[in-house]
Amino acid sequence: MATSPLFSHLKPPSPSCSLPPRVLSSSRSFPFSSLASASPSKASSNRPNPPIAALVEVGGVKIAKDDVVRESDPTNNVPDNIFSKIGLQLHRRDNHPIGILKNAIYDYFDTSYSSKFVKFDDLCPIVSVQQNFDEVLVPADHVSRSYNDTYYVNADTVLRCHTSAHQAELLRDGHSYFLVTGDVYRRDSIDSTHYPVFHQMEGVRVFSPDEWEGSGADATSYAAMDLKKCLEGLARHLFGAVEMRWVDTYFPFTNPSFELEIYFQERWMEVLGCGVTEQEILSRNGRKDCVAWAFGLGLERLAMVLFDIPDIRLFWSTDQRFTSQFSDGKLGVKFKPFSKFPPCYKDISFWITDSFTENNLCEVVRGIAGDLAEEVKLIDNFTNKKGITSHCYRITFRSMERSLTDDEINHLQWNVREAVQNKLHVTLR
Ligand code: DAH
Repeated sequence: MATSPLFSHLKPPSPSCSLPPRVLSSSRSFPFSSLASASPSKASSNRPNPPIAALVEVGGVKIAKDDVVRESDPTNNVPDNIFSKIGLQLHRRDNHPIGILKNAIYDYFDTSYSSKFVKFDDLCPIVSVQQNFDEVLVPADHVSRSYNDTYYVNADTVLRCHTSAHQAELLRDGHSYFLVTGDVYRRDSIDSTHYPVFHQMEGVRVFSPDEWEGSGADATSYAAMDLKKCLEGLARHLFGAVEMRWVDTYFPFTNPSFELEIYFQERWMEVLGCGVTEQEILSRNGRKDCVAWAFGLGLERLAMVLFDIPDIRLFWSTDQRFTSQFSDGKLGVKFKPFSKFPPCYKDISFWITDSFTENNLCEVVRGIAGDLAEEVKLIDNFTNKKGITSHCYRITFRSMERSLTDDEINHLQWNVREAVQNKLHVTLR
């Protein structure tokens, strides 16, 4: 699930980007202002896939499109539309719901810990497999490592699928209190709460022995208690006086591990994942005698609830009727839908092959229809006498900004059919 956990400035960290050196020292220059694909012209925002900048910049590092998207390389599965999101950094916009929420969380930590937490929000999302998985002890056979779930730039480099990817390097750099906010990338299904790019915040706090020794509690219980107190305070800061509960869970990087749920709008909602950091992570990174806690939360999931935003695609909208409704410091202003445009449904049926996956189908649909694809849903599934399986998917097309014409939808669906056949090697029915 896009916003749920995957598993259940001293100095900027180095290297700042897991790209080949030639990219880091790229001499190709591109004025930063023309990277502002965040505010394309009105006409281009209506196209399913607006033109893509050839170069983006994150944390002072220039990233060229052909360093991230390599169609002929079988170890690469990053499509153009994903590259186009790198560098947009919604979390760094003070008037955007994601940025407003980030700042509200910063305020809580600054107030509760007298500004001790160091904040990182500009770390490059291109990281090594080692950072993303190995350093946070994700098992070698964990599904999240598959090409079906993660965007690989090459066999050793990925678009980070969680902000936990930066934990180890920041511990090695000697940080004991830090928050990392960033865009994260996951191959996923298409519906109102799933989008292949979203934003997370990670928090880590390290304790040295003198902090727990006099307390009468052992190190792990001490950290777990402190963690729960801190995050209950955060939940009250964001949601007010809500009912809360702790649920035991599993993450590879923490033990014990918990999820915090709050009772909000008449249902239990998961807010974040957290736990006491695995000792192995601390000892491998020069903090052998310490104990630590960590948490990770999905900003979209919380922002959708706090601002009443009904569809995750809206966060990417450049339509002023969306963007003008939010301003710096105003957490929880309720979004007023400007209009609900009519959906259009198109079905597609095909005989699948062994390698078929729904994530691959969704990638193809997004590649053609971009944010006009609202949902892709399996509505029929059967296996014939010869053992061949047929799937029928219903695709919902809808723009959040205007009404789509029949011609436009028919054209999209035609292209989807062609691409599904050619790229997924299935047989259309
Ligand atoms: N990385 C987890 C995810 O993306 C979230 C998370 C859970 C982060 C627990 C943490 C943690 O630091 O302690 O699903």
